[in-house]
Amino acid sequence: MNSVQQTLSIIKPDAVERNLVEKIKNIFKKNKLIIKESKKIHITKDEAAEFYKVHQSKPFYNDLCAYLSSGPIVVMILEGVNAVFENRKLMGATNPKDADENTIRKLYGISIDKNSVHGSDSGENAKKEIEFFFKN
Ligand code: CMP
Repeated sequence: MNSVQQTLSIIKPDAVERNLVEKIKNIFKKNKLIIKESKKIHITKDEAAEFYKVHQSKPFYNDLCAYLSSGPIVVMILEGVNAVFENRKLMGATNPKDADENTIRKLYGISIDKNSVHGSDSGENAKKEIEFFFKN
């Protein structure tokens, strides 16, 4: 079904640090994802642990939370037709090594940890993740 949806996108510390925010935002805009909200924040490790709690049983959980809280990030609400799927297509595979040409992670990702962006993986999680960062 082609419906207008919202999804959450995060530009992670590695990409913020390398001044890639505008380049990544331009990829969204060129691909018909409207940036409805955007803010630059620096979260605590506890907040990262809460955000990523679906991964709490994974061996990489502690490093993941430490990493997301290691520097400023940019959190955005993206809106467009099939926004969850379209954003995931633009991001590419989790591991930049496996990502298709011209995807954000292929262009800018450094490693599976420093993979430059996060995007919600379903409509249901998008609602929860948007609520997490944009409560009011
Ligand atoms: P993200 O889409 O933000 O969701 C969870 C993150 O965990 C993922 O991107 C990766 O950056 C990170 N991660 C680290 N190791 C792994 C792994 N082995 N498999 C999946 N994700 C991993």
